[in-house]
Amino acid sequence: MILKTDRLILRNYEPADWERVHIYGSNPDFSKYEVWGPNTLEDTKKFIADMVEQSKASPRYKFEFAICLKDNGLLIGGCGIRRETEMSQVANLGWAINPDFQNKGYATEAAKALIDFGLDQLNLAVMYATCDTRNIASFKVMEKLGMKRVGMIKGHLEIKGHKRDSYRYELPKS
Ligand SMILES: CC(C)(COP(=O)(O)OP(=O)(O)OC[C@H]1O[C@@H](n2cnc3c(N)ncnc32)[C@H](O)[C@@H]1OP(=O)(O)O)[C@@H](O)C(=O)NCCC(=O)NCCS
Repeated sequence: MILKTDRLILRNYEPADWERVHIYGSNPDFSKYEVWGPNTLEDTKKFIADMVEQSKASPRYKFEFAICLKDNGLLIGGCGIRRETEMSQVANLGWAINPDFQNKGYATEAAKALIDFGLDQLNLAVMYATCDTRNIASFKVMEKLGMKRVGMIKGHLEIKGHKRDSYRYELPKS
């Protein structure tokens, strides 16, 4: 399973990916808005093992991709499109980019490929994403994708000992 954009290749995770993922997965600042992290080496290796296993599921209704540079194959992040069940026409989107490669449009470019995949291959009716209300970079990506803020969820998630307020964005049906 491979998706291609101008600058990126989105592919299934492979066992050796733990090393590149651990660079940002172990960074406490990187995961400050997330329920996971900072990762121990064991956490990252388990994540990769789970992703490899998930990619073998049939039927497959959750798709997690390593984001790699087309030029040299370097893994610079990850993204995913997840239906709640195999029959669901609703899917959640998510993304993460190694800080050394941020603010170059990579998350937006990868997410556009996910959206096209969701519309063309998964026949989705609704795609949505949530983020911590302080995670400006993430909701900027949502807005650049044409997603609309549909609400704010107070105390949505428990993050490292405090309740996270989240924005929810949805892609309007065209
Ligand atoms: C969110 C994330 C994936 C964005 O990746 P990215 O490749 O840098 O995203 P893009 O370059 O496509 O777009 C980011 C936009 O946010 C803007 N931005 C980033 N930080 C900002 C800030 N503090 N204030 C205002 N705008 C900001 C950038 O300027 C850019 O907008 P522009 O293209 O109009 O200039 C990345 O920051 C990340 O991995 N964060 C840690 C993990 C995370 O929070 N994931 C999302 C979970 S919901």
